[in-house]
Amino acid sequence: MALFKKKQSDLSELKLPEHIGIIMDGNGRWAKKRHLPRSAGHNAGGKTFRTISRYCSDIGIKYLTVYAFSTENWRRPKEEIDALMKLFKDYLEEALRDFKDDSIVVRFIGEKNPFSDDLKALMLENEEGSKGRDGMVLNIAMNYGSRDELVRAVKKISSGVKNGEIDIDLIDEQTISDNLYTAGQPDPDLIIRPSGEYRISNFMLWQSAYTEFVIMNKLWPDFSKEDLDEAIRIFNQRNRRFGGV
Ligand code: FPP
Repeated sequence: MALFKKKQSDLSELKLPEHIGIIMDGNGRWAKKRHLPRSAGHNAGGKTFRTISRYCSDIGIKYLTVYAFSTENWRRPKEEIDALMKLFKDYLEEALRDFKDDSIVVRFIGEKNPFSDDLKALMLENEEGSKGRDGMVLNIAMNYGSRDELVRAVKKISSGVKNGEIDIDLIDEQTISDNLYTAGQPDPDLIIRPSGEYRISNFMLWQSAYTEFVIMNKLWPDFSKEDLDEAIRIFNQRNRRFGGV
């Protein structure tokens, strides 16, 4: 508790990012280092996800977007996908059961259709059940890919033009933003990628035009509250100019 207070007061001198994105990477390598199956790495990553999402809410982050499963992750072996689906299901059941008094708004970004009926139902129940809350918005990116999101936006806008709802001459950047899964939310100020990889991996391509990236040399299961604090400190040292001088 003392440590938490110290961390909070440490952070109180810093500007908090309003929206943080996290590419939760390194579960497989974490497991390999321990001679464990990849699913053990995902289970450990699931625990870190619970700790870090709670911590972000506690310190006053308004939006957190976590990359849980990409449109490309379906290429993984079936047993790994099954283990991940079980992990998502367990978390979503737990979220419904235990977090009744929570303030976190749970949202999913990505196309829900490919998921099993019970997982889809849990996703909807979590979204519906947390809708009226006033706390941090937690976007869980599942079957999410930014290129796919942009294709979907183009289709929505095109059909708006076709049926006369959208004037083609009035299409601007805001029109694109308004047709993404993150419509109405601020763009991420900070995207953190643990595990030392310098890649964006099809995550929030449009939304990250002016995002600060922090790459950390920790595998996701080992990522701690202190690492999040450190990323926020690094973010505070950046001089954000948004294309100006
Ligand atoms: C990438 O690491 C991680 C994933 C594809 C899965 C992320 C999922 C979790 C952290 C589970 C928690 C999420 C919820 C919503 C309960 P990797 O497997 O590619 O790692 P590697 O690059 O070391 O192989």
